[in-house]
Parts: sequence; structure tokens; C-alpha cells
Amino acid sequence: MFSAEDHNFMQRALDLAERGLYTTTPNPRVGCVLVRENRILGEGYTQPAGQNHAEIEALHDARSAGEDVRGSTAYVSLEPCSHFGRTPPCVNALIDAGVARVVAAMEDPNPLVSGKGLEILRAADIEVRCGLLEREARELNIGFVSRMTRHRPWVRSKLAASLDGQSAMPDGQSQWITGEVARHDGHAWRARACAILTGIGTVRSDDPILNVRYVETPRQPARIVLDSRLEISVDSRIVKSAGLGAPLLVVHALRNEDREEELRARGCELLYLPDASGKVDLPALMSELGRRSLNELHVEAGGKLNGALLGAGCVDEFLVYMAPSLLGQALPMIEMAAPASLNERWELIFRDVEMVGEDLRILARLAGGLSEGIE
Ligand SMILES: NC(=O)c1ccc[n+]([C@@H]2O[C@H](COP(=O)([O-])OP(=O)(O)OC[C@H]3O[C@@H](n4cnc5c(N)ncnc54)[C@H](OP(=O)(O)O)[C@@H]3O)[C@@H](O)[C@H]2O)c1
Repeated sequence: MFSAEDHNFMQRALDLAERGLYTTTPNPRVGCVLVRENRILGEGYTQPAGQNHAEIEALHDARSAGEDVRGSTAYVSLEPCSHFGRTPPCVNALIDAGVARVVAAMEDPNPLVSGKGLEILRAADIEVRCGLLEREARELNIGFVSRMTRHRPWVRSKLAASLDGQSAMPDGQSQWITGEVARHDGHAWRARACAILTGIGTVRSDDPILNVRYVETPRQPARIVLDSRLEISVDSRIVKSAGLGAPLLVVHALRNEDREEELRARGCELLYLPDASGKVDLPALMSELGRRSLNELHVEAGGKLNGALLGAGCVDEFLVYMAPSLLGQALPMIEMAAPASLNERWELIFRDVEMVGEDLRILARLAGGLSEGIE
């Protein structure tokens, strides 16, 4: 159905899309390549929100090189948009430019517009094919797909652990279980996320800033702390850095106007979201973050919050950096009760396993229900 050339050019479009990994959010990362007779005329990828989409960048690139794109094939890693958002529809630009064929990796995951862009192109007598390297394209925009189909972000929990699954010493010390290479790699995963989430337990014990430091990024993800009783110290590094480029949202479950005011005065945003037990309502928080257009949420928390997120169906995958060491009975990565029987265990799928410096990086995705419609 698709030729070897089609594969190569779509792979190029995906490689370009990846250049937007840290910048396009809340828009998807998309790449586009314009080709005629096996020659690339122009290429581009989505610019930060409000600026050009990939197709427009590729058309500009071709024009500035003096290329005429009439009769060309456009390879795009996502169905071209058909609606007026912050920018005009890309389908119009492709039609006006005289493109003869469009190959898309996947349809727009937004059920309200899915397939409409392709329909408009077909109605303009453009040959349209869809589904080439779709799995790779979905993976690159897994957070966008999650938000469009489930109205909540894709949640990836990053954990550093010993080979026996312990993530801190009994006294709370956890810096550092893994090596420097793994820690730097972890910052690249922070950088691609829209926000980084932690619990008050980690703020108390590690005093983290939770910003991106070891990779170049023009954008800092927002930071979110779950602190039911508003106990966060105004002297913590995360509060001290609120409002300095990386916003801080403190989510609580008890009202305390004085403390709320004190934190607001230091640049924090407050969100009151209690559940019936007096803690932060996790599913409601995920819906709220989806409403705020967050695609990927990166968790860096202790065992308690990880256990609660898992139990509430609010984790999609674990990014585990496993160190070649043993800690014995210390603090587990995930605090949870054992299932009643082996058959009821949480099942995961290892999506990716790689050595990172001296440590092992494992990307393990929850099997079944939670990922349904995304795989
Ligand atoms: N190795 C690693 O990757 C790693 C990463 C991070 C942290 N750590 C270690 O983990 C330890 C801290 O772990 P932790 O479990 O105490 O802290 P945590 O998981 O970061 O935070 C737990 C706290 O979050 C609050 N929370 C708010 N809403 C919640 C909800 N719905 N469900 C559960 N918790 C909720 C609770 O306190 P309130 O009820 O007061 O709100 C709870 O005690 C430290 O030793 C730290 O070094 C290790």
C-alpha cells in the first residue's frame, strides 16, 4: 500500500515533528515534508502555539528555496487541520498550493474534527492516504491523544529505585540512588511534559525545585504540589521559585484563608479540590488539568502519592531508573497493598528498556483499560 519512499519521507516528517518535543504544547508535535519525484522541496515542523503549523512551515521553506510545489506529495505526521484556531486551516494552504497527494500518519484524535481535514482534501481532488507509521505518530503525541480522547493528560510517573524496588532510605534520604547520566536523562523527560507533579512528602524531604536544568529548553513546565492541609513552607525552594518562569500550583483539600493568601502573595496559584477523605481528589485533578490543556503530566513523587495515583486509575506509565544496588526494606517506589491473589496483580507492558549510564531505564505501561484507545 505504501512504498519504501513513502516510509522514508514519513519517517523524515516524524523526525522533524520530534524537534517540537519541548515547544509545541498544547498543540501536537507535527512534521511535514513536501516531495516531488523523490526530491524534498520543503519541510517544516510545528512552531510554538499561535505560530505556524508544520504544513505552513514546509510551504514557506519550499517557496523561499524558489521551489514550485504544484503536483507534489505532502507527508504529514498528523491529519492537516480544517478549522480556524489561532491560525487558518492548513488544508486550505495545501489546496491553494496545488499539492496533488497528501499522506498522513494518523487522523486528528479530536473526535469533533477527526477525518474532516482529509475529507476536504479529497473533495478538492487531492489523493489522500492515511495510516503510515501511525503507531510512531501516536506515540510522539500520546499526551495530545489522551487529552483529545479522554479529556485528561497522559500521566508518566518517573521513579528512581534500587534493583529491589526501593526509592528512599527509611529516613527519607533518596539523593542520589541513580547516577548522573540517569538524572540528566530524567530532565529531558521533564522538559517534554506540560507539568511536573509531586506530593508534600517529597517537598518536605527533598526540597526540590522541579524545573528543567540539564537540557536546553525555551519553556519550563508548570509545577504542581499536592498538599491537602497547606503545610508547604514558604521557605521551600519550590515556593521561593514560584513566579520566576515556572508557575507553581498548590492543590489543597482544606480551606485556610491566611495560608492561601500567604502563598498567593509569593506567586503560587491555589486550587481547592478535596475528596471525601480530606485529601486531594485525584480524578478531579486530572480532569481539571485536561481542561487546562495539559497533554503530558510528569510525576516525581514518593511512594504514597504514587500508590494513590495508581489506585485512582491516574497513572498511565512508569519511567523507572533502576540502579545496580540493593537497599533492603527501605521505602518502596509505590505504597500499595498486595492484591488478594496473583491473578489480580497490576499488569504492565515493558515498552522500552535501555542502559542509561550505569543504570537501567525502563518504560513500563499499564496493560489493558487505562491505555485503551491510545495503543
Ligand atoms: N526515588 C524517587 O524517584 C523519589 C522521587 C520522589 C520522592 N522520593 C522520596 O519519597 C519520599 C517521600 O515520599 P512520600 O510518600 O512521603 O511523599 P509523596 O508521595 O511525594 O507525597 C505524599 C503526600 O501527598 C499528599 N497528598 C495529597 N493528596 C493526596 C492523595 N489524594 N493521595 C495521596 N497523597 C496525597 C499527602 O499529604 P497530605 O495528606 O498532607 O496532603 C501525602 O502524604 C522521600 O523520601 C523522597 O526522597 C523518591
